[in-house]
Amino acid sequence: MIRIISDYSMKKLIAFNWKMYPKKAADIEGLLLAFDDANIDTDRYEIAIAPPAVYLPMIADIFYEVKADISLAMQNCAWQSEGALTGEISAEMGKNVGADYAIIGHSERRMYFGETDEMIGKKVSAAIKAGLVAILCVGEPLSVRKKGKAAVKQYIRKQIEEAMKGLSASKAFSSKRIIIAYEPVWAIGTGNAATPEDAIEVIAFIRSILNTSYSIPTARILYGGSVNAKNVPLFVKHDGIDGALIGGASIDKKELKSILKTLHS
Ligand code: PGA
Repeated sequence: MIRIISDYSMKKLIAFNWKMYPKKAADIEGLLLAFDDANIDTDRYEIAIAPPAVYLPMIADIFYEVKADISLAMQNCAWQSEGALTGEISAEMGKNVGADYAIIGHSERRMYFGETDEMIGKKVSAAIKAGLVAILCVGEPLSVRKKGKAAVKQYIRKQIEEAMKGLSASKAFSSKRIIIAYEPVWAIGTGNAATPEDAIEVIAFIRSILNTSYSIPTARILYGGSVNAKNVPLFVKHDGIDGALIGGASIDKKELKSILKTLHS
């Protein structure tokens, strides 16, 4: 039988994707202050921040000093562990400077950097091999959405299957090494979030793929795309959604504070 609800033994993950912000390192502390007095319900929520890679060591140091209960994520990683790959950063390097997660296959990487499903599959494997948890992003563009739900599901199934190709799936999942973020492309950075009902339906579908194709009924599946302080409870408090991947709103101090308030204990 397919489980539709999430595994309650796992905390919901609220991951903040800072994209290519803040412009100055000096502005990081201001953003981190929002977490200081947030009094987050840490029994229920796990928090992760994905800053630009150059900031990882600095933020890891701050977290170490203040004993912050916050994880760090890479926004991307190389598919090889080393090599003549100018400009790339390996998952291992990220791990060594404090990251626990790597976002992989974000639609901006697919769109602007030509990442294919095959590259993404290799990156997922590299991240897991380096000891990171891969947050695999999937989601359909508007043109597919317009064709209807069957087309959306077909598109997402293919993205997952391609990304999982190089992976011993059961091993990855049983060790909780992969998370899927459902991020419809048309919802990212547009202010036009999916409805919770839509997100829940696609997430349940993803859960069914993981169950039937990989025999893993429980893996955290997040929603991302224009999540903000107003709509965040609709997504993260729902039993069928295991957390959120939040971009733009997490680099706006005021909005970030309001989001964290909703995660109050
Ligand atoms: P958004 O981005 O919250 O700004 O829509 C989501 C993401 O990039 O993961």
